[in-house]
Parts: sequence; structure tokens; C-alpha cells
Amino acid sequence: MTPRKDLLDIASLTDEEIEFILSNAVPFKDLFKRSVKKVPTLKGRTMLTLFYEPSTRTRSSFEVAASRLSADITHFDVESSSVVKGESVLDTVETLEAMKVDYIVVRHKQSGIPNLIAKNTAASVINAGDGWHAHPTQALLDAFTLREVFKDLRGARCLIVGDIQHSRVARSTSLLLRRLGMNMGYLAPGSLMPREVPDEIARFGNWSDALDWKPDVIYLLRVQSERLDEPFFPSAAEYHKHYGLTDARVQILRDRGLYLMHPGPVNRGVEITDTGMDYEKSLINQQVENGIAVRMSVLYWLRPGASV
Ligand code: CP
Repeated sequence: MTPRKDLLDIASLTDEEIEFILSNAVPFKDLFKRSVKKVPTLKGRTMLTLFYEPSTRTRSSFEVAASRLSADITHFDVESSSVVKGESVLDTVETLEAMKVDYIVVRHKQSGIPNLIAKNTAASVINAGDGWHAHPTQALLDAFTLREVFKDLRGARCLIVGDIQHSRVARSTSLLLRRLGMNMGYLAPGSLMPREVPDEIARFGNWSDALDWKPDVIYLLRVQSERLDEPFFPSAAEYHKHYGLTDARVQILRDRGLYLMHPGPVNRGVEITDTGMDYEKSLINQQVENGIAVRMSVLYWLRPGASV
């Protein structure tokens, strides 16, 4: 396998690289059962998190992952940095480059910023979410979680529900799960369904038709109000009634034995109820735990300074 400097999206990964990351996450997850969950793999390396958008899971997950690999971790605090005085992304990167960090984990509201940074640093750049474009480690942890449940994903069906149009998670996760042989369906209001959806993805406008398709997994998305510059549905209550996982729909999932996923953060009362959050076949906490193992595997796989 050719050494790879950056992880920017799912599309540029080879099948061999996907398999390498997913299979190496297994022994990393086994570490979590030990009282000492740390290995010296990245001792002497430094990982920096550069988040221009808020994050709970992704940033802390990378920090825990790097810590378990014995890397040093530093956070670049955008809010209290010279970025607020107008410093450009590339000027910030030039400064970080001079500090000789090994990994830069970046999140930005603009698609393509991680690619731009990657071209301007010898550090390994990991895209932790850029605009609507990509969130590759979310996709990898979702695939890892589903492989724990189904072993072989070929033929299993996953229905993604919600704001697909603005979702980097839907784009990356759907692409990866399809590559691993899953059948994908989208359920969304017309205003939140992308105009161009590959023919092999089933599209639905209501729960009844979507459930008739017999999904094995329901993958809820957050309504991304920060990316909606115009109303895409009349109100949160209307959205919940027509597209949310109501208590009645939780009962349908239970009766059919369906699994539930969500990348977080959740909007309780909009895409999911409290009952939905407590659903016994929810994989949400498993996704969070697996995120650490998968990100350890990604850090282990990447080669800072590699030419490709
Ligand atoms: N899933 C995800 O990206 O969550 P955060 O926004 O909390 O990082």
C-alpha cells in the first residue's frame, strides 16, 4: 500500500485502504477493555485540532484517540486566535507549519478548506468535516459499527432520514456503505433531498413508503439549522410530525427489530424523541465508542510528510 499523507474524503480511498483502516480498528478497540488503554505507537508525534466550527464528538474523539496512541495533543483555539483579527487560513497554516506538528485535524464550514491546507503543509491533514462536502472519519466509524452488527454489509439496507441536502455525513457515509455492498435509501422532504441522487439509491417522501422498502437500519440526521438560510419546512413541529422518529415510529422500529443510528448532536423533539434516544437497538453510543478506535486506526495509517 502506498503511504498516504492525508485523509480528505472517502472517494479518494482505495478498497485496500478502507479495509486496512476498518480491520486495524478492531485491535485498537480491544485495548479499551484494558485498565491501561494506551500504546506507544505515536510517541513523539504531535496532533493539532483546528476547528473553525463547533464539535463535541469529533474533536474529543480525535483527542482521546491520539492520547491512547501516546501522541502529544494541542488545540488551536480559533475563537481566541488571530483568526478573529482577520488572519487567513493559509497564514494560520504557515504558522502551524513552522511549529512542525505531525497531524492537523481540521473542521471548516467551507467545503475544500482541508484540501487547501493539505497542499500547504507537510503535516498529515484529516478532514473532520468541511461544509456539505465530506466527513470521512464519521463514515468509517459508521461502517465499522455496522460491520460489528452485520459482519458482512452486502445486501443489508440502510435508510438515511432527514436533511440529506446539507449533510456531509450523508454524502460520506452513503458512499462508503454502498462501496461495502449496502443498499441505501433516502427519506427527506423534497426541499432537503439533493437534486442529483445516484439511481441505485432509493428515494422516499414519507415513512410509510420508506418502511415498505424494508430497511434494516434507520440512520437519522440532524436538521442543520446553521446551514439553512431559508426555511425548508414550515416549523420544527411539522418536521417532527412528518419526518421525525416519533414515539409511534419507535414502536414500529421495535416491532421490526430495526437498528437506529445518528451521528450526533441530536435535536430532541425534532428528529428524535426522548423515547427514541432510549431505544434498545440504538447504536448511537456504540458509534461514539467506535469513533475512537477508528480514529486511532486512521492516525496509525497516515504518514506525515509522505509525498501522496
Ligand atoms: N458527528 C459529529 O460530527 O459530531 P460533532 O459535530 O459533535 O463533532
